[in-house]
Amino acid sequence: MNEYLNFFKKNKIFTLAIILIILIIILVIINILIFNHSSFTIDNETIHKNNDNYNMQINYPVFSNNEINKKINKIIDEEKDKFLKKIDKKSNEKNELNIDYNYTIKNDIYSVQIRSYSYTGLNRDFYFNDLMLYINSKDNTELTINDLIDQELYSVLKDKCYQYLKDKEQDLNLYDDNIIKDYLADFGKDILLSFSEDELNIIIPPFKVSDDETDFRIPLTYDDTSQFLNNQYFTFPQVEEQQPPTQTPSTPRDESFFQDKKLVALTFDDGPNYKVTTFLLDELDNKNAKASFFLVGSRISSQKELIKRMYNSGHSVGSHSYNHKNLTKLTDEQLLKEINDTNELISQITGEDVKYLRPPYGSYNKDLLNKINMTFILWNVDTLDWQSRDSQKVCDNIINSAKDGAIILLHDLYQTSVDGALCAIDKLQEQGYAFVSIDEMIKLKNIDLKTNTAYRYFK
Ligand code: NI
Repeated sequence: MNEYLNFFKKNKIFTLAIILIILIIILVIINILIFNHSSFTIDNETIHKNNDNYNMQINYPVFSNNEINKKINKIIDEEKDKFLKKIDKKSNEKNELNIDYNYTIKNDIYSVQIRSYSYTGLNRDFYFNDLMLYINSKDNTELTINDLIDQELYSVLKDKCYQYLKDKEQDLNLYDDNIIKDYLADFGKDILLSFSEDELNIIIPPFKVSDDETDFRIPLTYDDTSQFLNNQYFTFPQVEEQQPPTQTPSTPRDESFFQDKKLVALTFDDGPNYKVTTFLLDELDNKNAKASFFLVGSRISSQKELIKRMYNSGHSVGSHSYNHKNLTKLTDEQLLKEINDTNELISQITGEDVKYLRPPYGSYNKDLLNKINMTFILWNVDTLDWQSRDSQKVCDNIINSAKDGAIILLHDLYQTSVDGALCAIDKLQEQGYAFVSIDEMIKLKNIDLKTNTAYRYFK
């Protein structure tokens, strides 16, 4: 032992050098652990616990910034505590806790949404908590929403939000009206915003549970909002003019596909609805079915991407007026505005003139027909989907009244309508029917299409 001590006593400079090196190493480690302004990474961890009383599935992000990770771990611990306290040991139903996350990226900013939801007790009481973290991947730091937006944005968002929810009055029964009112009254306090490449979304949590935990997203364009966003973090390419989509539409189906088939046109009014219509488009693709959509103008600007997809997938896109008013009751000036504003919005997306009009409530007269140089598309099968909200009834109605050349009225506001339509597609395809867009129907039946004329079906 003494030999070593003597060695260090004799070599003071060597000893100091070693102490210095150790200090530097410690400092570097501290710097990595605490400040961590080095490179940004996002990783994933999963905790899965399953026992007699509960099932716990936790999926959370791990960042290269330990401060943020600590925060996330704290949140998870709190959610676990809350859950474990609520567990009902007598219940035969499994108690369930789920924590999951997702994120969107705009420029260097990650919007990370962490969602916790659980079912506990005999009544399967639903609990829900959603929060948002914003991370600047450029310097690996956390930002608050107030770093990213101007306070003035709240009033813009609130207006948009209210308008959107009001437009979707029929949708409101998915949610508790009073909670929505409270939510809007307290707007801005716990607002969840996610910034993605093309749009900004207000995320409204599922207040009332239907069968799933999907949230409700209100998409907003950066055209409407960019002036309120911090340009230190967000940049927007200058767009001069609205360009028609560069993406090429899907190639038309070959005529041989329709050989000996009876043709049916499913038509969906009053949309689009982000959640329901997206699901419908996915399923129509899966079933190689085409449909037609009559859009309400006031909904278009917030759903451009979805409409572009509709058009590019080979569905027909028509107008259902701007405000869904009874067109026979308007002044000429009001009428022109209802028609032209909607057509302009749709053509900006499709790059084509809008040919078809479905007058709201199916209400039209000779005078209206003469005033509007479009083709009126009515229907000969009304599924009454908005009334029954029963997918089995919708499915049966379609199957029982399907005929070659039929035009069937549905609304892509309700999941039940879409489920009913998909059920009917499966059955009728087996019976030799093909589901066509209005465009396809007209082409396949060699219809000499006329404007200022109303069609209820095609012979
Ligand atoms: Ni309608």
